[in-house]
Parts: sequence; C-alpha cells; structure tokens
Amino acid sequence: MSNDIDKKFAVIGHPINHSKSPLIHQKWLDDNQIAGKYGTVDIHPDDLEKEINRLIDEGYSGFNVTLPHKETIKELCHAIDDTAQKIGAVNTVVLNNGKLSGYNTDAFGFIENIKQNLEAFKFDDKSALVLGAGGAARAALQGLVEAGVSKIYLANRTIEKAQNLKKMHADIIEVIEWDGFDYVLPKVDLLVNTTSLGMNGKNDLKINLRDLKKSAFVTDIVYTPLMTPLLTQAKDNGHDIVTGIGMLIYQAQKSFEIWNGIIPTVNQELVDRVL
Ligand SMILES: NC(=O)c1ccc[n+]([C@@H]2O[C@H](COP(=O)([O-])OP(=O)(O)OC[C@H]3O[C@@H](n4cnc5c(N)ncnc54)[C@H](OP(=O)(O)O)[C@@H]3O)[C@@H](O)[C@H]2O)c1
Repeated sequence: MSNDIDKKFAVIGHPINHSKSPLIHQKWLDDNQIAGKYGTVDIHPDDLEKEINRLIDEGYSGFNVTLPHKETIKELCHAIDDTAQKIGAVNTVVLNNGKLSGYNTDAFGFIENIKQNLEAFKFDDKSALVLGAGGAARAALQGLVEAGVSKIYLANRTIEKAQNLKKMHADIIEVIEWDGFDYVLPKVDLLVNTTSLGMNGKNDLKINLRDLKKSAFVTDIVYTPLMTPLLTQAKDNGHDIVTGIGMLIYQAQKSFEIWNGIIPTVNQELVDRVL
C-alpha cells in the first residue's frame, strides 16, 4: 500500500475526540482491503472554511461532519442531496476536484436500524409519537416520512421548536403538548425518543407506557446506556424494542457506501467494539 494512493477520510467536529467513527470506518476500510486512513480533525467554528481548504489540498476523499458544523458546512457545499436539504444538515461530504457534495445519512441510519432489528415491521400508513425536536429529531422525522409513516405526533419541552419542525412535513406532523402526550399512546404504532433524557448523567424521561398499544414498539436513539430506562420499561411491558447504537452504525454504513461504493458488513463484533 503506497501513501500516494491511500484514501483519506475523517470526521470533523469540535470537540471530536469522543467520536466512534474512526473505529467503525477504519475497520471497514481494512476489512475491504481499501488502502486508506480515517481520522479525526478538530475544527474550531471560526476556522471551518480554511480547514476545509486544507483537507482539499491534502487530498481527502471525504469526511463526516458532526457538531457544531452540521448546518454551517452547507454553505461550503456545491451540491446537497434532497434528504440533507430537508433535514437542514449535512453529515457526509464527498470531495471531488475541490468541490464538496453534501449528504445526510442520519435518516437512513435511523430507519435501517429499525428495519434490521424488526424485519416484520412495515412503516406504510403507521403512526408514530416522536419525543424531542433537536437535531436528531429532524433526521428521525425525515426518515419516518420517507419510510411511509402517515401520521407523526411530535412533542417537545420547548413547543416552538416542535412547531418549527412541523414545517418539514406539515401534512403529516401534528404538534402536541409535552405535558400531555399520554393520550396518543393507545393510538401509535411506534414510540421514538430523540431527546437526551435517559442518557448517562441526564434525567430520565418521565413516561408511563401502561396505555401504549400492545403491538407498538419503542426505540430510543440514546445509546449510553444501551438499555435506557425507557427501553427497560417497554421490554418489561412486553413491547419490541430497538436500541440506539444501530443508528450510529447504519449512518456510517451509508457514508461508507457513498465514498467507496461498497456496503460494509455490520455484525455483532462491530457493535461490541463500538460499545
Ligand atoms: N444513536 C445515534 O446515532 C444518535 C445520533 C444523534 C444523536 N443521538 C443522541 O440523541 C440525543 C439528542 O441529540 P440531539 O443532537 O438531537 O440534541 P439536541 O439538538 O441538543 O436536542 C436535545 C433534545 O432533548 C430535549 N431535552 C433535553 N433536556 C431535556 C429535559 N430536561 N426535559 C425535556 N426535554 C429535554 C430538548 O428539548 P428542548 O428543545 O426543550 O431543549 C431537545 O428536544 C442525544 O442524547 C444524542 O447523544 C444519538
């Protein structure tokens, strides 16, 4: 393997040391015998354009984007795909002849995680309750709509943020009160937590799943801990559950495919390594 032909990839963010992306992508590069390195690049918001020009000069093939650059990177992109446009954020960039093409693979990651873990579930004409209206919620909402869900109840502590997200798909999303979402539990086919509640060091999500439709499943995009209190309660009540780690892994899978034209393998060994 010559350095001249090594492909270079990275995840950019600030801070960035915590990122699991190098672990995932380097394993896939090695497994697929692609001569390449995937690292981290810490970029202060003030230096974004300068640092992107440096990555271009150094011959990078592409990079992932995380906080705080997911929205600002759009201004430097020459093209942005429809999903990223709708979500309003880019998490994957292809570099080609100095030009940036932006994608968002978070919506794919969110849905693919459910598809891979609950193969029998069909999204068409189903209804969902989504909790939270932050950055991750935008990807979950877009993924659900693209997958065919016909009704989404959206609740967020700060209702204005939910009302803002309703504009993404005003015909499908209905904003409901954070302090009174329980009444939709008997009606929905899936319950999605996209808030940071339940994460290690944060408060738990206060919810009683007693009235949740028996056939409904529950997914939490928080994956530290893997079994959040919400998922534990859902499992104890007999509901199918989907943990959040797969969203991280499948968004990476789609990025890898965009860059390398190969769908890399997701297996338990990889999941264990990431956890
Ligand atoms: N599995 C994955 O691959 C993946 C990907 C992305 C994110 N995540 C996880 O998803 C979570 C959210 O990420 P994000 O980027 O969307 O964060 P964000 O943009 O900061 O949004 C945070 C959300 O949590 C809500 N929230 C926070 N504290 C709350 C509280 N005390 N009571 C009620 N609601 C509260 C916020 O409500 P307000 O609007 O009212 O503040 C907002 O809806 C994080 O835990 C993150 O690690 C996982």
